[in-house]
Order: sequence, then structure tokens, then C-alpha cells
Amino acid sequence: VSVEVVDVRAVDCHDLRRRVLRAGTPSDDVEFDEDARPDAFHLAAADADGRLVGVATFFLQPTPWRDGQRAAQLRGMAVEPTVQGQGVGAALLRAATDRLRSVGVTVLWANARDSALGFYERCGMVVVGDGFLTSDTLLPHHVVVLDLVS
Ligand SMILES: CC(C)(COP(=O)(O)OP(=O)(O)OC[C@H]1O[C@@H](n2cnc3c(N)ncnc32)[C@H](O)[C@@H]1OP(=O)(O)O)[C@@H](O)C(=O)NCCC(=O)NCCS
Repeated sequence: VSVEVVDVRAVDCHDLRRRVLRAGTPSDDVEFDEDARPDAFHLAAADADGRLVGVATFFLQPTPWRDGQRAAQLRGMAVEPTVQGQGVGAALLRAATDRLRSVGVTVLWANARDSALGFYERCGMVVVGDGFLTSDTLLPHHVVVLDLVS
């Protein structure tokens, strides 16, 4: 599927966050505390009809896995189920890493669902540390990191 990656507001991410990330979990909370941060940005993949088929949110957040580095965290990566596996998630990550590199961020990291680890690894991210359950979804996760060496 051919998509254009565009900047959107946090509120434009709510629908996909709800349907893709919250369905079947104890949480229906689609607002992240970090959405309001001045450095947060939200990317969406728009299809040929302008429909948003993927979203992801990024903000500056240090990680103990890369102590002292200028780091950004990814949250809320969600792709429309009917177009999953067609490159939308990878396009969002690529656009984000280009932007983060250009502002001097040297590492991108995320609390990744175990069910999505294969995706992150295909995108070059590395799994670090032990697994854990997040408090909102109660799903198993691992931290993944990507060094943004230029
Ligand atoms: C995980 C997710 C964001 C990936 O986005 P996507 O658009 O489906 O992924 P892409 O098509 O860009 O995949 C890129 C590569 O990763 C692989 N991949 C995608 N999802 C995968 C998964 N869950 N497990 C293993 N590999 C996966 C693809 O096959 C593709 O491999 P290729 O380069 O060999 O073709 C999306 O499937 C999704 O929203 N899943 C449900 C919600 C979720 O888990 N979000 C992440 C929470 S941390």
C-alpha cells in the first residue's frame, strides 16, 4: 500500500490507538501523558484517499539502556489491521528516525509488545533486558533500542 507520512495531532491518533492497541485489553485509555509535551510529535501514514492507516508518537525520553545519550521514545505504534504487513509501520519508523537524527537524537527506544518484536527487529531494533508486563495493557513487553548512527 502506498502511503504518505504526515504530521498529525495527538487526537488524530486516538481512533487507531483505540481499535488497534486497546481492543481486548483492560485499558481503553487512548491519551498518553507525553502527548502534551512540547517535543512530542505524531506521525501518520495517509493512504491515497487521505485516510490515516497508521500512527506513531515520539518524544524525548532518556533510557538507562543508553545512559547519557539524547534519546527518543516511541509510543502508540498502530497500523490499520487491513493493511498490516504492507510496509506502513516501517515507513513510519523510517520517517521518524530521519527526523530524530536530524535533530541530534542518537537512540530511539520503545516498550515493545512481544507480539511485535519481530517487526521491530526487521526494522533494525535490538531487544534488551528481561520481559515485563505493562500496567495498562497487562501484555508482555521487552525494551527495544535502535542506535541512530548517521
Ligand atoms: C506491529 C505493527 C505496528 C507493524 O506495522 P506493519 O505495517 O504491519 O509492519 P510492516 O509491514 O512495515 O513490517 C515490516 C517488516 O516487519 C515484519 N513484521 C510486521 N509485523 C510483524 C510481527 N508482528 N511479527 C513479526 N514480523 C512482523 C513484516 O513482515 C515486514 O517484514 P519484511 O521487511 O520482511 O517484509 C502493526 O502490525 C500493528 O499495528 N500491530 C498491532 C499493534 C501493535 O502490536 N503495535 C505495536 C505495539 S508495541
